[in-house]
Amino acid sequence: MKTTINELAVFATGSDKNKALIFVHGFPYDHNMWDAQVEALSKEYFCVTYDIRGLGESPAGCGQFTMESFVDDLEAVVDEMNLVKPALCGLSMGGYISLRAVQRMESKFSKLILCDTRSAADNNEGKLKRAAGIKKIDTEGVIPFVNEFIPTCFSGSYMKNYEKQYKEVLFRSQKNDPVGVKGSLLAMLSRTDTTESLKNISIPALIICGEEDTLTPPDVMKEMSHRISHSNYVEISGAGHMSPIEKSTEVSNHIKKFLKD
Ligand code: MLT
Repeated sequence: MKTTINELAVFATGSDKNKALIFVHGFPYDHNMWDAQVEALSKEYFCVTYDIRGLGESPAGCGQFTMESFVDDLEAVVDEMNLVKPALCGLSMGGYISLRAVQRMESKFSKLILCDTRSAADNNEGKLKRAAGIKKIDTEGVIPFVNEFIPTCFSGSYMKNYEKQYKEVLFRSQKNDPVGVKGSLLAMLSRTDTTESLKNISIPALIICGEEDTLTPPDVMKEMSHRISHSNYVEISGAGHMSPIEKSTEVSNHIKKFLKD
């Protein structure tokens, strides 16, 4: 089922009688990045995905986004869909949104799954990289930006052995509205650091990281996991930053087990 909430494209699969699980995608992707997890989990869970404002099918509007406005959007989806304490699963930028959402309103969620993400805000080098990205989109367009960024997200072996699937993701990302892509860059550049509040998270957390993730590497995610009281860290061998796509069955099985426990 597809619906529109707050202008956002929202997708629900499975019975709404089941416990809800909401997925928040990474940058510059869309809800389709969770296809394998939705397929694996929607018999037992009411799976909700949505396109973050400005990406996929959700309109970019003015493109002046903040992490706070992204969290407002997540809250609107949870409230409008009447999701009762859904489990929350976010990858990378979706993880930044999830971490800030839990900091703001933990009681709305039952469990937290963080894939290939970090709690720290961008340092100066990171901010300058985002600014260079915005400039590249302005001067060269969104396709050259995406073509340069996306290979940094996947392991070399995935790009080589699953070329067709990799290209599908690449082509979908190339279609994003440049205003929306720049808006995400601005929101990430200006986000707050949630590291100090990790110790306050009381819901169970599953931390998933691709062994070959160079953007949010295993040591960063292990450290995050140590700071969260009820958390379990799993590393996905041979996967890069996009572990739910690269090793979809393994990631889905970890999520399944975590939700059952
Ligand atoms: C993502 O996958 O969402 C991005 O790598 C996040 C980022 O650029 O910080």
